[in-house]
Amino acid sequence: MIKFVNVSKKFSDGTEAIKGIDIEIPEGKLVALIGPSGCGKTTTMKMINKLITPTAGKIFINGEDITAKNEVELRRNIGYVIQRIGLLPHMTIEENISLVPRLKGWKKEKYQSRVNELLELVGLEPDVFKTRYPLELSGGQQQRVGVVRALAAEPPIILMDEPFSALDPISREQLQDELKDLQKKIHKTIVFVTHDMDEALKIADEIVVMRDGKIEQIATPDELLRNPANEFVHTFIGEDRINQGISNRRVMDIMISLHQTDKLERDLAIISFDSTITEAAKQLIRQNVDKLAVVRNEETIGIITKEEVLYFVAGMRREEGSSC
Ligand SMILES: Nc1ncnc2c1ncn2[C@@H]1O[C@H](COP(=O)(O)OP(=O)(O)O)[C@@H](O)[C@H]1O
Ligand SMILES: [Mg+2]
Repeated sequence: MIKFVNVSKKFSDGTEAIKGIDIEIPEGKLVALIGPSGCGKTTTMKMINKLITPTAGKIFINGEDITAKNEVELRRNIGYVIQRIGLLPHMTIEENISLVPRLKGWKKEKYQSRVNELLELVGLEPDVFKTRYPLELSGGQQQRVGVVRALAAEPPIILMDEPFSALDPISREQLQDELKDLQKKIHKTIVFVTHDMDEALKIADEIVVMRDGKIEQIATPDELLRNPANEFVHTFIGEDRINQGISNRRVMDIMISLHQTDKLERDLAIISFDSTITEAAKQLIRQNVDKLAVVRNEETIGIITKEEVLYFVAGMRREEGSSC
């Protein structure tokens, strides 16, 4: 179990990134840290493997205060997966995966069979992939290797900082499913940082919602959806879920439907029902109007307003701009 007791972090430039947090991460569970960019997720995670030292409070792993622990030794027992993988380009996939086992002094036979086993676990044929170099793999394949590399030396704890966020949506979904299946077999203690609420809801046993260096709520996905602790959590869940897939949303999805009896203002600029919301935004700006008539087969079927569009476009920007 990982336990944070009243932990704070103030960086040398004065930034108070973490303001007195308490978290208990149970053994064998996958716990997601989620919150807006800059809320302190990465800082929290890096304090577990001592890439960052707290300025106050204590962190315990299985009851042992990590302050006194040797960091190299500590990190060998903690797998770490980051967004842009960090596979070593001049090493083959086999060499990459077996790196920590070799540092730990495993015999050749043992680490070789471990590499085969791990590659199979994520659907990469060992004979095909072992001898390849990272750049000879797709992004999704590289990230699978990144994940199994973190598992190679069988660390009891694995830290994953937005490991799938640079992937295309299909690979991301696949890797989420694979991680979920994998976790059913390996039961590791996994700390998973994400800014994607759907991802957290899908894979986590527990979710820690953070804001501005503090914790707003710790709950299971079900509890979180049912009982958001406050307005912030409520809005965060809501916004994020509304934002999902916004780039592909069509004006049909947000238009106000017209009934045959409704009177339509004359001379409204028009937009086709199958246009995207982004296109609607461009029309509104180009024509400098507040409303557009939504047409289908030359018939007006609804109205779309600037207010509605701005709301969605703002959401979209947040989604595409978030890089935490
Ligand atoms: N090395 C650093 N020095 C100063 N400020 C930092 C440093 N690292 C992170 N911060 C600041 O601490 C806050 C939390 O950052 P971070 O933990 O990376 O957030 P998140 O991962 O949630 O996006 C941010 O305001 C960030 O700018
Ligand atoms: Mg981060």
